[in-house]
Amino acid sequence: MKTSVAIIGGGPAGLLLSQLLHRSGVDSVVLERKTKDYVLGRIRAGVLERGLVGLLEQAGCADRLHAEGHVHDGTWIAQGEEMFRVDFAASVGTPVVVYGQTEVTRDLYAAREAAGGRFEFEVEDVVIEGADGDAPSVHYSVGGERRRLDCDFVAGCDGFHGVSRRTIPEDVRREYEKVYPFGWLGVLSETPPVADELIYANSPRGFALCSMRNEALSRYYIQCPLSDSPEDWSDEAFWEELRRRLPSEVAGKLVTGPSIEKSIAPLRSFVTEPMRWGRLFLCGDAAHIVPPTGAKGLNTAASDVHYLWTGLTEYYRDGSSAGIDAYSQRALARVWKAERFSWWFSSLMHRYPEQTEFDLKMQTAELDFLRDSASAQRAMAENYVGLPY
Ligand code: APR
Ligand code: PHB
Repeated sequence: MKTSVAIIGGGPAGLLLSQLLHRSGVDSVVLERKTKDYVLGRIRAGVLERGLVGLLEQAGCADRLHAEGHVHDGTWIAQGEEMFRVDFAASVGTPVVVYGQTEVTRDLYAAREAAGGRFEFEVEDVVIEGADGDAPSVHYSVGGERRRLDCDFVAGCDGFHGVSRRTIPEDVRREYEKVYPFGWLGVLSETPPVADELIYANSPRGFALCSMRNEALSRYYIQCPLSDSPEDWSDEAFWEELRRRLPSEVAGKLVTGPSIEKSIAPLRSFVTEPMRWGRLFLCGDAAHIVPPTGAKGLNTAASDVHYLWTGLTEYYRDGSSAGIDAYSQRALARVWKAERFSWWFSSLMHRYPEQTEFDLKMQTAELDFLRDSASAQRAMAENYVGLPY
């Protein structure tokens, strides 16, 4: 089989890239390890930056997003019993859109299928060959049959545990990592959200987040020790702990119900450099991971896709390599700003085991400054709604 761009990974990054390339007349094939239903079964954050909304519009996949997504002009920050709002519209004139990542992925699959996009599901033993030459190929098995995909370029959109990053020789890669000393216990419940906008809470008992998927589906998180497992937490224990971390006026409005999903995610900051090796380009979680605090995972995958899509389009349309040659440097410049914001917001909102009394005073002062300063709120809003591509 032959294509212009072999895309490894059928998650949001791989699908968005495939659809945008298609709209530019560039052929691709998506190789996905799992089934489509498995990919669509993943529960992930859904706060969309303006840039991602724009890309989905360019991909012709934004109709349902605009019909069902919730525009949020701000977010709430809770500090013990106090709460204040960061007003995105007033600070930077731009909202975010709350629309589950699963729905983004579903819309992208629908668009690819409608356009006759080529997929291979349940691929195994993927090996990238010749990425450092002029004629790369991807080798994989499906149903026990070994296959080969010849291509001009390979897009590694296969997430943190994929093969693409590891294809880049260790002596070429530089990796940067920070592992946070806690996780997030998340619950999905078929209950009305406790508020119209998200509430990020810093409480003496630890971080909590009140989010949602729609008017009847809520998503809540509490910071928990890495030693915990979801089985350690009954629904009642979760709701009680969540209430204790929220201002009492909010806790009193909380509508609880059975959890339909309960999981614990560890928090990590990770970046690999470079994001290009020869004709292999890394996109999304394959190249970087952010703690979920700033909701930057999907949105930073989107900016990677933007840079790679525009670079590959210039290559095929204009014969120019300028865009792909600048890809790694351009993508990383924005990745590191997303890492910084996610690290800053995580440092601001969580309780850390090694925090001293002085550290806690610094955290309180930072929160007070954010509450009282228009320039501090503008800085947060700029990052939260999405820095320009
Ligand atoms: N071969 C083929 N596919 C693979 C392989 C492989 N060797 N390894 C992993 N995959 C697939 C996974 O099954 C997954 O569907 O690659 C896809 C990667 O998708 P994501 O992990 O969702 O990563 P990405 O598309 O970059 O999207 C980033 O997803 O994980 C969240 O928080 C993250 O919101 C962010 C978004
Ligand atoms: C979510 O809705 O899952 C969510 C929202 C915002 C975040 C993280 C997760 O910062």
